[in-house]
Amino acid sequence: MQEVTLHDKTFTKFISEEEIIRNIKVLAEQLKNDFSDQNPLFLAVLNGSFMFAAELMKHIEFPCEIQFVKVSSYQGTSSSESISQSLDVADELVKHKTVIVIEDIVDTGHTIEYLNNYLQNKNAKKIHIATLLLKPDAYKKELPVNYVAMKIPNDFVVGYGLDYDQLGRNLKHIYKLKEQ
Ligand code: IMP
Ligand code: MG
Repeated sequence: MQEVTLHDKTFTKFISEEEIIRNIKVLAEQLKNDFSDQNPLFLAVLNGSFMFAAELMKHIEFPCEIQFVKVSSYQGTSSSESISQSLDVADELVKHKTVIVIEDIVDTGHTIEYLNNYLQNKNAKKIHIATLLLKPDAYKKELPVNYVAMKIPNDFVVGYGLDYDQLGRNLKHIYKLKEQ
């Protein structure tokens, strides 16, 4: 599909599934080099990262744990500063662990800053961020984002887990908002 319409907006194909998977494999290789002897905890952030987390984990062949949290911040097509969390991870599953947060996209950085504080409060040993997408021009925080599968411009995107008002998460390619 070259175009999709979700609610009132039309999106055009931007990154193919093939290219996404190719970049995820490169990221998995980086993670192998840096964490293969550390038994890290991968913490996937629902809902947006479910597809990325599933694909990434298929290429991780060293011992690791995986857990999930659920946070949300977005309303429509713009980021909001208020973050709500509706699924928690137990303190003892985080304590003294090397944690790799799995995000779908880092935009302003509010969400990863929130998660960084959340994991520090649970006494994580070290916290790293792995994201499918990063919008460098929108990022406002100091926290380093060291594991990025793909950098994109400041466009609103859907697909491969990402939504526009809950639609589009099921799409296997990534689509961007069409200029009107
Ligand atoms: P941040 O807190 O501003 O960095 O935003 C991060 C969260 O907003 C991500 O985890 C996404 O769920 C959502 N988000 C940011 N940009 C987009 C986008 O272009 N499309 C869909 N969701 C997005
Ligand atoms: Mg998200």
